[in-house]
Amino acid sequence: MKFFIDTANLDQIKEAQDLGVLDGVTTNPSLMAKEGITGEVNIKKHYQAICEIVTGDVSAEVIATDYDNIIKEGEELAALHDQIVVKVPMIKDGIKALRYFSQKGIKTNCTLVFSAGQALLAAKAGATYVSPFIGRLDDISTDGLNLIAEIRQIYDNYAFETEILAASVRHTMHVIDCAKIGADVMTGPLSSIEGLLKHPLTDIGLEKFLADYNKGNQ
Ligand code: G3P
Repeated sequence: MKFFIDTANLDQIKEAQDLGVLDGVTTNPSLMAKEGITGEVNIKKHYQAICEIVTGDVSAEVIATDYDNIIKEGEELAALHDQIVVKVPMIKDGIKALRYFSQKGIKTNCTLVFSAGQALLAAKAGATYVSPFIGRLDDISTDGLNLIAEIRQIYDNYAFETEILAASVRHTMHVIDCAKIGADVMTGPLSSIEGLLKHPLTDIGLEKFLADYNKGNQ
């Protein structure tokens, strides 16, 4: 299972990278705005800065919603760095653009996916990644993890190569449940990754080992 971090915060990206378990980064316009990064030039510079920190895929989202401009913007983003994955929304022109990018060898991430049908279409169009937003489904009393399971079954039935990137992951249990179901990738906040570390018995056990070791040194 690949671990991506879902943020545009460079300090958090560095922290996750230093942990040695980071496989990539996802961003979106809201995450950029949260860091105060606005305007095309600044946003592009920020993508490059992220690519300098990590070694894996970095999703960069197009703003355009019509085919010609999705292509133009996506090609510009892809030219920024060879780690860039063009993030395209799940809309009709987005599906056409996924096919175009796939034929050009440009990696893509189809975003804002909320149903198995949308995920099937993204795979047919040749998306590299599909991003079902599980947290946002949970927010409206719909089982986000069930969507991951449905997509896993469909992709396995036909050996689609599109990777399931569980997005809108909010906490550690989402990560564990996605791993059980077989999501290829999860993207979440740093806290969802660091939460995997925690167990009180680990802390108690370590404290006891250290105390017993120190007894011998008194
Ligand atoms: O990866 C998708 C993500 O950025 C959305 O997360 O928490 O805003 O639903 P959230």
